[in-house]
Amino acid sequence: MNFYILTLFPEMVVNGLNTSIIGRAAEAGLLRLEAINIRDYSANKHHKVDDYPYGGGAGMLMQAQPVYDAFQSVQERIGKKPRCIYVTPQGRTFSQADAKAFAKEEDLVILCGHYEGIDERVLEEVVTDYVSIGDYVLTGGELPAMVLVDAVSRMVPGVLGNQESGDFESFEGNLLEYPQYSRPEEWHGKKVPEVLLSGHHKNIEMWRRKQSVLRTKERRPDLLEKAELTEEEKGWAESGSHAKA
Ligand code: ADE
Repeated sequence: MNFYILTLFPEMVVNGLNTSIIGRAAEAGLLRLEAINIRDYSANKHHKVDDYPYGGGAGMLMQAQPVYDAFQSVQERIGKKPRCIYVTPQGRTFSQADAKAFAKEEDLVILCGHYEGIDERVLEEVVTDYVSIGDYVLTGGELPAMVLVDAVSRMVPGVLGNQESGDFESFEGNLLEYPQYSRPEEWHGKKVPEVLLSGHHKNIEMWRRKQSVLRTKERRPDLLEKAELTEEEKGWAESGSHAKA
């Protein structure tokens, strides 16, 4: 999968993503990450990319032309119009379902804004998806772009070492993941739940499912409303979120 990040700060994006799992996946050829400097496409002799908003108001806007030409350079190279995500607080909130859907694309462009935003006319021509990473305002789109690349990349087959770990984790079926424990069996006086030491797979599976339901009820009741639960599971949720059994 190919990511093309259109940005005024390419080194920030590249440096932030060339480590860890994503860096390894890029080295293994599963992903390719290209940060494209919008400033390189400025037609202005001083490489200017921003100007005052018509109608007045605070701050500067990124102009249409350099953004359009940077996008066109990608489109020409790949020979088709790619999906193009503009990261903005005005977008829909990014979800795990989006991460999975974006991971199916061969090419994905992510457009990072700065200053007070980008001239609306170029957005109308290139953007296919408006995506926010939450209801707060950041100084630019680079951190959101990195969040997207990370979350999408781990949904690309082969990127996670163990393919299972992409399927049985938080947000699958609108439930949070169950609690996990490793050695030692007792730490700070707290024992690992007995059932996990039992070797009884069916009971372990049931315990984990119950913990997922209880945890989601306690921490994300909004999510639980969207989960598909059996009558028995609904009963767990009703009987109190602090039950440990
Ligand atoms: N740019 C600035 N703030 C943002 C946010 N919350 N999500 C996506 N892009 C942004």
